[in-house]
Amino acid sequence: MAKRPWIIGNWKMYKTARQATDFVEQLLPLLEGVEADIGLAVPYTSIAPVSQFAKGSSLLVGAQNMHDAREGAFTGEIAALMLKEAGASFVLLGHSERRHTFQETDEMIQRKVKRALQDGLRPVLCVGETLVEREKKLQDEVLRRQLESALKEIPAEEVSHLLIAYEPVWAIGTGHAASAKQVGEAHGFCREVLAELFGKRKAATIPILYGGSVKPENAAEFLSEKEVDGVLVGGASLDPEGLASIVHHCCEGKPEKKRRKSS
Ligand code: PGA
Repeated sequence: MAKRPWIIGNWKMYKTARQATDFVEQLLPLLEGVEADIGLAVPYTSIAPVSQFAKGSSLLVGAQNMHDAREGAFTGEIAALMLKEAGASFVLLGHSERRHTFQETDEMIQRKVKRALQDGLRPVLCVGETLVEREKKLQDEVLRRQLESALKEIPAEEVSHLLIAYEPVWAIGTGHAASAKQVGEAHGFCREVLAELFGKRKAATIPILYGGSVKPENAAEFLSEKEVDGVLVGGASLDPEGLASIVHHCCEGKPEKKRRKSS
């Protein structure tokens, strides 16, 4: 019954390249034999060194943002092709910190998703409502708008490269994760919208990850929800043992308290 889970770490603006390779050196032995798709969305300067260090392992390396143009006069920006050549295979797009702190609009995110697919990176499209929107029961409306606007021009043959992350803004970095029930409902709704866009069969193949205060103690609970295919982990992904513990819980489907303490 166990599904092969996705676990992606989002490091945000943490770790120098040296700290990043030290982390991976500690992480890889802890992941031996696990049946999961594991990715790290690292700062730009760590993409090449981490990719080289992790060569030969199944660890995927990704970026946290990119520009929507192939190239151009955009001082300070970075293009998908540059990320790909450095070793990235995926990119987070539309993360709530990009939407809210850097004023990224649905239109910008749509162009970035399209560009990522054109230039060979898998987009991890992040969607999610704010606390005010949830209090007004607007979460479905927000999720529909964010999904439809970002995915409207995706050709059918590209759908298999997409990943979605449901990240309610009020659960990110707050220590207050959504409940498994709230996550199950939101993922079910996202799956419905994806089915409207791409048909039921294709929609069923798109991994939908939950993100927002995921920890070793709660990761397995989210995975037990039908439409949850993995987790996107911010703070708890900065420590190799913490991240490995999340991976093991997701694979084994057991909550923290039932696991043997390792020391
Ligand atoms: P968090 O962050 O796990 O620290 O809540 C999640 C994210 O921002 O993707």
